[in-house]
Amino acid sequence: MNGHPVRERIRHNSTDPGPVAGVGHSYAKAILLGEHTVVHGTPAIAFPLPALPVRAVARPAFAGTEADVLAAGHFRFRTGEAGSASGPRVAVEEALRRWGLGDDIVDVVVECDIPLARGLGSSAACAGAAVRAVAELYGRAVAPGTLYELVQCGEQVAHGRASGIDASAVLASGPIWFHEGTARPMTVGLDAALVIADTGVPGSTQHAVAGVRRVLDRDRAAADRLLAEATDLITAAATDLSGGHAAALGTTMLAFQRLLTELGVSTPHIDTLVTAALDAGAYGAKLTGAGLGGCVLALTATDLAPAVGTALRRAGAVRTWTVPTASLRSDALSLSASRPERETHR
Ligand code: MEV
Repeated sequence: MNGHPVRERIRHNSTDPGPVAGVGHSYAKAILLGEHTVVHGTPAIAFPLPALPVRAVARPAFAGTEADVLAAGHFRFRTGEAGSASGPRVAVEEALRRWGLGDDIVDVVVECDIPLARGLGSSAACAGAAVRAVAELYGRAVAPGTLYELVQCGEQVAHGRASGIDASAVLASGPIWFHEGTARPMTVGLDAALVIADTGVPGSTQHAVAGVRRVLDRDRAAADRLLAEATDLITAAATDLSGGHAAALGTTMLAFQRLLTELGVSTPHIDTLVTAALDAGAYGAKLTGAGLGGCVLALTATDLAPAVGTALRRAGAVRTWTVPTASLRSDALSLSASRPERETHR
């Protein structure tokens, strides 16, 4: 039977029979600045969102699969199955191959609270949780760099050409400055709130990334100017984030939104949400993630966050989440940290 090597390996490799299931966690991410341009070499700033977790449970396939009906947002995959593989399955299969266990069949159930295809890193987060679950099942320690590489294998399937920002941010313990495949932690000195608004419209990252490439390829000189401007804005945003300059950061977010509009990834719905956030008093707002749907991120004074959330939902957001910037500090981020408030569905 296909699944036997898993049980045998666990028993042969250790006097302890090992767990019959492995569990792994990860969470969503949001990009503050730098989506799309990061694919073309600029830095980007992103942070994990523990309010939107993913939990994965991996079992050897011989243990059978439960016949239970999976809840919305939950899915199951089995390694080695025929047919096209999802990003999480590609990541897990690559992990098994690297461990010399490529023939083992593992069943993974992923419980994903992240809305799919909304620019919040659901594919990378599911892959991260799934690899961690399989690593626990086999008693393997996975170094952070290896985990990143494995998630990236899945992301190349999900995005076409992934910069690595999603894989880095969903595995990070706080805000990161990401540049050319390397992430470093960032300090946050800002006392404000971020309101994330879901347009309710799924966007295809692969499609958006291909569209941006076409725009940049049309005029290389203009593309170089745009990417240089993007780098200046991202650099300024990092200074404002650590220095606590909320109004300046809001202005920078708006300038970046204009660049993203030039790159063709905003939509009338996103523009409406950005305007609604500004009219409600936000410092700034922009799309976050790949765009063409997905989510909008607004920066606001903390006391205005409820009004900004309400304005965004009135303008068509299907839901909003408020994230205090103080909760972004890496020492404040953990799965057990207080969760950002999830506001009402319309
Ligand atoms: C998607 O979350 C971010 C993009 O920049 C794609 C990538 O960096 O791989 C649009």
